[in-house]
Amino acid sequence: MRKIVIKCGGSVLDSLSPSFLQNVKSLKSEGYQFIFVHGGGPDINKMLELVQVQSVFVNGLRKTTKEVLETAEMILSGKTNRMLTALLQTSGLKALGINGSDVSLLQGTFLNEKELGYVGSIENVNTEFLQNILALQIIPVITPIAMGVNGVKFNVNADTAAAAVAVAIGAERCIFVTDVPGIKIGGEYCSRIEVEQINSSILDGEITGGMIPKVKSAISALEEGLNTISIVSGKSGFYDGQNWLGTEISNRKELQI
Ligand SMILES: Nc1ncnc2c1ncn2[C@@H]1O[C@H](COP(=O)(O)OP(=O)(O)OP(=O)(O)O)[C@@H](O)[C@H]1O
Ligand SMILES: [Mg+2]
Repeated sequence: MRKIVIKCGGSVLDSLSPSFLQNVKSLKSEGYQFIFVHGGGPDINKMLELVQVQSVFVNGLRKTTKEVLETAEMILSGKTNRMLTALLQTSGLKALGINGSDVSLLQGTFLNEKELGYVGSIENVNTEFLQNILALQIIPVITPIAMGVNGVKFNVNADTAAAAVAVAIGAERCIFVTDVPGIKIGGEYCSRIEVEQINSSILDGEITGGMIPKVKSAISALEEGLNTISIVSGKSGFYDGQNWLGTEISNRKELQI
């Protein structure tokens, strides 16, 4: 079965377009299976402001103390996941929200404890569970909280989590749905970008903030065998019937064909 992993940014959850949902429905009816992973940056920021905890980002990753982790999980699992799952469900798709720490779905470890606290990297994904859910024609909607040994939980950047799930499940494509139509370089959105150009654009300061975890996760997922990652706005569709929209980051092998 052909699979697509969609990462839905917290930045665009409130404004997902009808054509986005239409794309999911029509590709599903063509036989694609979907797995969703969601972010929740703006809602987490709002809640942290409310409880007067400062948000600190290092290269686009949220520094995560115990308190930030608890707030992030509460918002992601209790609000953002609920919203997206309900939206899919009311759009006529069967969706099941699940926390990444349940059923060992996302198993993680510290990415860099000293600099980032409880930010996780993914070590393993329970693909058997995902396959079982997909076989029921249900779309899993994953909250990017991972579980480590001894029950330690991790806040995993949602782009990182989506890319890891895409690699593990053997997805044909991973789509990062965000609030901009792709990667902007030199004032223009590009339809395709290569790994070398990404690295130089980070150094030049053209790719910053929340775009950094996207391109970095894309690069490592491509190295691990994923074929294509695209970055696209959720305010429009991601597929026009023939072409995938947004900025595509492809495996070099495919580029040479
Ligand atoms: N070169 C670039 N091209 C396009 N966007 C860029 C670039 N560099 C930085 N960005 C920023 O990246 C942002 C998208 O990442 P961001 O983390 O804010 O959203 P998200 O990942 O969709 O949401 P969430 O983090 O809640 O899941 C854009 O809104 C834009 O401001
Ligand atoms: Mg982000």
